[in-house]
Formats: sequence, C-alpha cells, structure tokens
Amino acid sequence: MATQLEAACIPATFSNLTLFGAEILTLEATLVTNHSASVPSAVRFTQPSIEVQNATFCNITVSYTHPGQGDNIIVETWLPVDAWNGRFQAVGGGGWVAGRYDPSYSAMSGAVGDGYATITTDAGLGGAEDAGPWALVSPGNVNLYNLQNLASVSLEDEAILGKLLIKSYYGRGPDFSYWNGCSQGGRQGLMLAQRYPTAYDGIAAVAPGIQWTDFFPSMYWPQQFMNMLGEYPHACELEAITNAAVSFCDDLDGIVDGVIGEVDACLDGFDPFELVGSTIQCSQENRTLEVSSTAAAVVNATWRGMRNAQGVQTWPGLNPGTDLTAAVAITNCTTETCVGVPLPIAVEWLSLFVSRGPEVDLGGLTHAEFDRLAHQSGQKYRSIIGTDDPDLSAFRKAGGKLVTAHGLIDQLLPPKGTAMYYNKVSALSPDVRDFYRHFEVPGMGHCAGGPSGEPTSLFNQLRAWVENGTALEQTPVKVQDTEGVVHDRILCPYPQKTVLKRGCKSPGKGHCWSCSS
Ligand SMILES: *[C@@H]1O[C@H](CO)[C@@H](O)[C@H](O)[C@H]1NC(C)=O
Ligand SMILES: *[C@@H]1O[C@H](CO)[C@@H](O)[C@H](O)[C@H]1NC(C)=O
Ligand SMILES: *[C@@H]1O[C@H](CO)[C@@H](O)[C@H](O)[C@H]1NC(C)=O
Ligand SMILES: *[C@@H]1O[C@H](CO)[C@@H](O)[C@H](O)[C@H]1NC(C)=O
Ligand SMILES: *[C@@H]1O[C@H](CO)[C@@H](O)[C@H](O)[C@H]1NC(C)=O
Ligand SMILES: *[C@@H]1O[C@H](CO)[C@@H](O)[C@H](O)[C@H]1NC(C)=O
Ligand SMILES: *[C@@H]1O[C@H](CO)[C@@H](O)[C@H](O)[C@H]1NC(C)=O
Repeated sequence: MATQLEAACIPATFSNLTLFGAEILTLEATLVTNHSASVPSAVRFTQPSIEVQNATFCNITVSYTHPGQGDNIIVETWLPVDAWNGRFQAVGGGGWVAGRYDPSYSAMSGAVGDGYATITTDAGLGGAEDAGPWALVSPGNVNLYNLQNLASVSLEDEAILGKLLIKSYYGRGPDFSYWNGCSQGGRQGLMLAQRYPTAYDGIAAVAPGIQWTDFFPSMYWPQQFMNMLGEYPHACELEAITNAAVSFCDDLDGIVDGVIGEVDACLDGFDPFELVGSTIQCSQENRTLEVSSTAAAVVNATWRGMRNAQGVQTWPGLNPGTDLTAAVAITNCTTETCVGVPLPIAVEWLSLFVSRGPEVDLGGLTHAEFDRLAHQSGQKYRSIIGTDDPDLSAFRKAGGKLVTAHGLIDQLLPPKGTAMYYNKVSALSPDVRDFYRHFEVPGMGHCAGGPSGEPTSLFNQLRAWVENGTALEQTPVKVQDTEGVVHDRILCPYPQKTVLKRGCKSPGKGHCWSCSS
C-alpha cells in the first residue's frame, strides 16, 4: 500500500480536480520523505507536543483563482503515506495570516505525525505578517475580495479541495474531518461552523478572533485612553498593579498558586487605585518610583473595557492578572517622557480598513471620533468578517461538534467576548450543550503562555464526542505555581466553574476539583 501511495504522489492522480467558482491554475505533487519536526503544544493548542520522525507524505500544492477577482490562492495539503488514520485535520492561521506560515506548518507536521491528512491555505494573501501588502487595491480602496477570502471564502474552498484530494489519493474520502486553530485560526473555525456547517464534523477553536469588528477597537482602547489623558505610565507601574491584583485575588478560588481563578470577584474586590503613591523598584528604569494615578486609571480602563464618550461599556475588558505590558498598553519610556506604543495589528485594522487611509492620525482622536471609528468598524465589515453569528442551528443539524477555549489572562482578545458568544448561541439553542462546549482557562494567555498549560486533551475529547458520542464533561490541564511546582487541574464547561472539593487534602491533584452545576 505504502509503495503504491508513494507512486501515486504525482499530479496525474489529481488531474480531475475542480472547484465551483474557481479555476485551478497549478497543481504540484511531491513526495516528502524522512520529515522530522519537534512540535510544541503551543502551536497545537488542543493537542500535546509531539516529536515527529521520518514521516513520509504526499505534498500537494494547488493554486487557484476566482475568475474576475484577480486573486491567487495557494492551498497546501499533506497526505500521509504510512498509517493514514482515515481522518482530516485542517489547521488555522494567526494574526493577519490565514495559514501557510511557520506555525501552521509546524501544526501540520504534528497532524501528519498523528496520522491525519492535513491542509493549510494562504487565502491568497501570501505569508506577510501584516495586512499592508494586500489590504488595498489602490490608496483609499480596500481589497474586499482579499478580505472576503481571509474571512470566509478560502475556508470553504479549502475544505472542498482537501476532501477531493484525499478521495483521489486514497480512493475514499475522510471518515471524519476536523478543524484546529487559535486566534485567527479560532475565528476561521467559528466562521466554518457559522457559514459552512457541513465542512467539518468537529471544530476546536481556541481564543477565537470572533467579534472581529468589536475586539479590534477594544484592542486599541488602552492606547486611546492614554492619548486622551496625555499621560503614559511606565511598564513597571502596570506590572506592580497586576502583581498586587494576583496577590490579593489568588486565594479567592481556594488555592494560592499565582493564578486568579475568580476573575470577576477579583475585579469587584481589588481596587487598582490602592497602590497609587506606593514606591516600587522599576526594573526597566533601574530606579524606584511611585505608582501614579495615571497607571491605576489605565489599568482600570483596560479591565473595565472599552467605553464610549457617555461612559457606557462597548466591549468587555481584559481580566485582572493579564499582562497589560505585553500588548495593549505598551509604552516606551526611553526618552524623558513616555509615549504609547499601539499594537500594529490594531492600528492596521483601524487605519487601513476602517478609516481607509494609512495616514490617519489615530493618536489625535477625540473620544467622540474614536467612538465613530469603532462604530464604523462594525458598519463596514461585520457582515464580512464579524464572525459573530450565534445561529449554529445548521451546524447542529449537520451533527457538528464545537469546542472553544479561552485563556483568562489572554493579553489580546477579551475572554469575555467568547463567553458572550456562547451565551448568545445558548439563548438561541437551549440544547447548546449537545453540540457546543466552551472552556475558560485560568492562568493561560493568548493561545498559550502563562502559569497554565494549554488544554491539550481537548482535541482527542472532541474526537470522542464526534466519533463515539461521548461528550466531554471536563478536561485536564497543568498549572505551574510560583514555586515552579506543577499541579493537575480540571477545566469545566462554561458556565460551570471548577471548584476545590471541600476538605480535599491534595489540591495539586485533579481529583480534588469538580465542576459546579
Ligand atoms: C533523516 O533525517 C534525520 C534527521 O533529520 C537525519 O539525521 C538522517 O540523516 C536522514 N536520513 C536520510 C536517509 O536522509
Ligand atoms: C523511514 O521511513 C521509510 C519509509 O516509510 C522507511 O522505509 C525507513 O525504514 C524508515 N527509517 C527509519 C530509520 O525508521
Ligand atoms: C510543498 O510544496 C510546496 C510547493 O512546491 C512548497 O512550497 C512547500 O515547501 C512544500 N512543503 C514541504 C513540506 O515540502
Ligand atoms: C542600576 O543602578 C545601580 C545603583 O545606582 C548601579 O550600580 C547599576 O550599575 C545600575 N544597573 C544598570 C543595569 O544600569
Ligand atoms: C474605573 O473605570 C470605570 C469604568 O469606566 C469608571 O466608571 C470609574 O470611575 C473608574 N474608576 C476611577 C477611580 O477612575
Ligand atoms: C522607544 O523610543 C526610542 C526613542 O524614540 C526608540 O529609539 C526605540 O526604538 C523605541 N522602542 C520601542 C520598543 O518602540
Ligand atoms: C471510540 O470507541 C471505541 C470503542 O470503545 C474506541 O476503540 C475508540 O478509540 C474510540 N474513539 C475515540 C475517538 O475516542
């Protein structure tokens, strides 16, 4: 069989490939042998790390265009020659990248190592980390075809092409098809569930970049807030307040481990302004300084979420315990006065797409102007890339199963957005638990990072749910405390909470924890 498959890895095997609405431009098929990779869980999100050695697969790379749209999309499919497990696992992209970049390739190595046929698409955008190269057709004019390819169209194409290639190669289609991604990759997964409900049987989406048109303005909000104050705190001040919040709130969940389990109780109980005036050692500055009221106000504004000029919350904030200096509230204090350093991805969304000109001076926006920009984000693009449609009835009807997870110290995307989405799906579908479960991950950052490891059993649990009907009631995770000791924990499906069993003597073990109803 293997020799036969090796021989079949030639373009002629796939010569009947067609895709409605598209014209296939090129197809390459090359046998890749002795493929090895060390794949960390940080690029697999819901699967453990894996050492891949000596894998053999057929690499089929297809380029196609949607005639008249001037696009050129590349889809790369890897079909294992040895021990195909009969399944298909598509992997997502990250940031502005749809896929076909190093982290996707790494995830594909892992998938092949586990026996999956796997696939990635570049959505026609190339591999650039920023949107600059493809956002505009000409100054002031957004390339809507490119945006639409990223948002949705390339995803359906990819699923169809992947299944056709699998059928041509092995003589039968996949028994089960899965999606696995985080961030942009998570958003892609949710878009598939929303718009292409039969594309995948199971979708694992971590920190999904859904509600795209809302979270991007919210990602910029701390910078807008600082601009309006005209003051920018030192990173060490924000860190000091975050550390104080962790100390204050750590035991609210019954155990002191450096992780805030009860983020809402922490928000209610801890006052960031309490630290104002206290002296801290500032590592970046190599001197002591006093925590300013500006620093407390920035932390407060970031935790409490984006507000409009009338003071009404327009998007939830990041949770206490989140590293605000990693992304949303970066400042640069190299010179005498500190300045804000907005995130390039957020600036690109607001300048290239929403206000449609790279020369917009975001730094000078009044609150009312910022509100208008945030509103336009949704007006112009929600239907294209909002990815916030809570109607998953077609996905449910097709028998699909969806699992999402979101780190509670995600430094980019407010985890409450994903919980809000789950609540909306739940409001429409009282039987939501039959096809969708969401897991909040205390102590995990965006996709990975932080004291908590990734929920690396989720993918196999999703498989068991899809293939055997065994719904996942909880999932294990490992948490490293401030002393470096690793503890076993469980995560419970939202809105359940993980609670320490009364009187349990070994809170470092998973069995000491259970799910509240
Ligand atoms: C296979 O890959 C391993 C590790 O990269 C390398 O050491 C070995 O020489 C390769 N073998 C062949 C036959 O290419
Ligand atoms: C590597 O894989 C090839 C193809 O399956 C096989 O022939 C070869 O024996 C393997 N080599 C090692 C060192 O496992
Ligand atoms: C698969 O083929 C494409 C097109 O030739 C190439 O760019 C890519 O690097 C190949 N991937 C591997 C793993 O060989
Ligand atoms: C930090 O300050 C101390 C005391 O003023 C000085 O000895 C040390 O060299 C400084 N370190 C750096 C990295 O500037
Ligand atoms: C913290 O933020 C909330 C929400 O914007 C605001 O109502 C409150 O006044 C702020 N607290 C302080 C002390 O500024
Ligand atoms: C901080 O500002 C200095 C001086 O303007 C500049 O040279 C440096 O590149 C900036 N660093 C960052 C990380 O933005
Ligand atoms: C489904 O159940 C069968 C029989 O118990 C088992 O062998 C198989 O591994 C299960 N599949 C998954 C994906 O859990």
